[in-house]
Amino acid sequence: MALKLKLVAAGVLLAFGLGAQAAPIIIKYSHVVADVTPKGQAALKFKELAEKKLPGKVEVQVFPNSQLFGDGKEMEALLLGDVQIVAPSLAKFGKYTDQIQIFDLPFLFDDIQAVDRFQSSPEGQSMLNSMEKKGIKGFGYLHNGMKQLSANKQLSLPGDAKGLKFRIQASDVLDAQFHAVGGNPQKLSFAEVYQALQTGVVDGTENPWSNIYSKKFHEVQKYIMDSNHGVLDYMVIGNAKWWAGLPPDVQKGLSEAMVESIKFGNKVAFDEDLAFRQKVIDDKKAIVVPMTKEQLAAWRTAMQPVWKKFEGEIGKNLIDAALRANK
Ligand code: LMR
Repeated sequence: MALKLKLVAAGVLLAFGLGAQAAPIIIKYSHVVADVTPKGQAALKFKELAEKKLPGKVEVQVFPNSQLFGDGKEMEALLLGDVQIVAPSLAKFGKYTDQIQIFDLPFLFDDIQAVDRFQSSPEGQSMLNSMEKKGIKGFGYLHNGMKQLSANKQLSLPGDAKGLKFRIQASDVLDAQFHAVGGNPQKLSFAEVYQALQTGVVDGTENPWSNIYSKKFHEVQKYIMDSNHGVLDYMVIGNAKWWAGLPPDVQKGLSEAMVESIKFGNKVAFDEDLAFRQKVIDDKKAIVVPMTKEQLAAWRTAMQPVWKKFEGEIGKNLIDAALRANK
């Protein structure tokens, strides 16, 4: 009898022991764009690498295209622990920090290389850890690309935007940017953009080439300007409490997978931005319009007062550091 009991007890212990070992940690990584974009590719790469480095210990579930949460909800979902990793656009951190608004200032960065230099600078890196107290762990910046203006009319000069309704991301800087050229900005979630353009709820918008192509915005816009007037990049973030509670070996494996996946996504962003532009041209649904130096200078002059408006919130030092990255 005693032996039987011992055997049962041993069996229970074994089952519990095995059970605990066998259950992988589920990591939900939610985002709003298509798999082919830099962010979509980075998320899939993270899954591949994390599961390879930590076999049986983690399972990464990637949810693209706002399947699980749209951009209005994903940050809340992260803080509630309903997802563990998200990568919102830098335009969507306004509720949590004033500084990150810097990335939305129009015509601040000459190109994506300048954005990259600024993000790698001490000032850029310090923003990654700036939201830990609010429960947000910053893993790193991830590129998408420079934004292009689009509308159903050609936007050669700032005056052409007058009276037009533009969809914007949830950013007060972007709101000010379109007001500066006489437009009527409207904050809408990414999942709503196609329909808003198609039905005329808004007349125009701004996004990088990979998003324009993969979400077919070029099918519901007549003109896309080569404006490169601002950047749309991301911060990959995790729930800080969840992260702190992970075993050290899992943290190490996930950190490595994160660094490598961001590098991979950034390479996609650098290498494929112009390929997505070409696909838009080849589709012949919208006309891609090059802009002259003079036209761009006029847009810059019209939009630049926005910098002053947000200088107090963002900090002049940070803006100066960003400008230094242009050289
Ligand atoms: C947008 O809302 O336009 C973008 O932030 C979507 C994205 O994640 O690229």
